[in-house]
Amino acid sequence: MVCTSLSHLLYNLNKDCKMKTGICTDHGGYALKKIIHEFLIKVGYEVVDFGAFKQDDDDDYPDFVIPLARAIADKEVHRGIAICGSGVGASIAANKVAGVRAALIQDHFSAHQGVEDDDMNLLCLGGRVTGFASAQELILAFLKAEFSGAARHLRRLQKIKQLENK
Ligand code: RB5
Repeated sequence: MVCTSLSHLLYNLNKDCKMKTGICTDHGGYALKKIIHEFLIKVGYEVVDFGAFKQDDDDDYPDFVIPLARAIADKEVHRGIAICGSGVGASIAANKVAGVRAALIQDHFSAHQGVEDDDMNLLCLGGRVTGFASAQELILAFLKAEFSGAARHLRRLQKIKQLENK
């Protein structure tokens, strides 16, 4: 992790360096999650799988997304990838958990810039929207990116954090 300022150092004080990546899906992304899990292991990431563990068209994305979001907030995993049919429900649910900065991502620029500027820690994908090759590129861009720690970004993140403390 590159620290560019004292405030960035302080910001990262509570982060530990476990580099586990959490993944989850509902039925809308079950096939994509399976492929992504294998891909992440192949390229050397330690993966924690929060389900779903079978294709069940009646399952509900909050049942998988909230446990993954909590694991990110509790620093049990470093970052996460949450999939549902569109990625919309996953991002809505995850952003209810304090400390989680989730976004639905469909382009390469946002996959890394979301980390660099906004310290995004959960990438949401649409299993019915994003194909495997695109997902692979987005995931690598997300996981390899680092928060810049620039003062203006820290200032903006602090303004969001204040909402969580109310
Ligand atoms: C489930 O059919 C679908 O609504 C869900 O996976 C997701 O797309 C919600 O945003």
